Amino acid sequence: MTRVQVKRWGGAAVAALTLTGAVVMAQGKAATPTVLVHKTPTCGCCGKWVSHLEAAGFKVEVQNHDEMTASRAQHKLPEATRSCHFALVGPYVVEGHVPAADVKKLLASKPAIKGIAVPGMPAGSPGMESPNPQKYDTLAFTADGKTSVFASH
Ligand code: CU
Ligand code: CU
Repeated sequence: MTRVQVKRWGGAAVAALTLTGAVVMAQGKAATPTVLVHKTPTCGCCGKWVSHLEAAGFKVEVQNHDEMTASRAQHKLPEATRSCHFALVGPYVVEGHVPAADVKKLLASKPAIKGIAVPGMPAGSPGMESPNPQKYDTLAFTADGKTSVFASH
């Protein structure tokens, strides 16, 4: 499929990209879609979580808000899984300090849920590095607020 599409691109594109390069780019894009992070401008742990995602290969865009209430309401996020920031990636919402590996698992397994969340700000989660890490769960949540354990850490 990809080979045929590459050939159809025509002169300029083919000249600019080798076939191998184009295939690698296409695969990379599919594996790591852009993550749009909604956060407050002053929160340091949110910025560290953005760095964690980037280090794991995600392209990240950031939208800063003075406070999160309105944007959380706009995306109808349940109170039970509330944290300091949330992100939109593909069809999903990712709230809080969710490990990048869980986001990748979500995108690969495509479950019928609204998103995943690490409620609160547990010590030891990505962006909340701590000498005293605690155990925490990444929760899956549905549009009507039902939660289940997605991954344990
Ligand atoms: Cu935080
Ligand atoms: Cu945050």
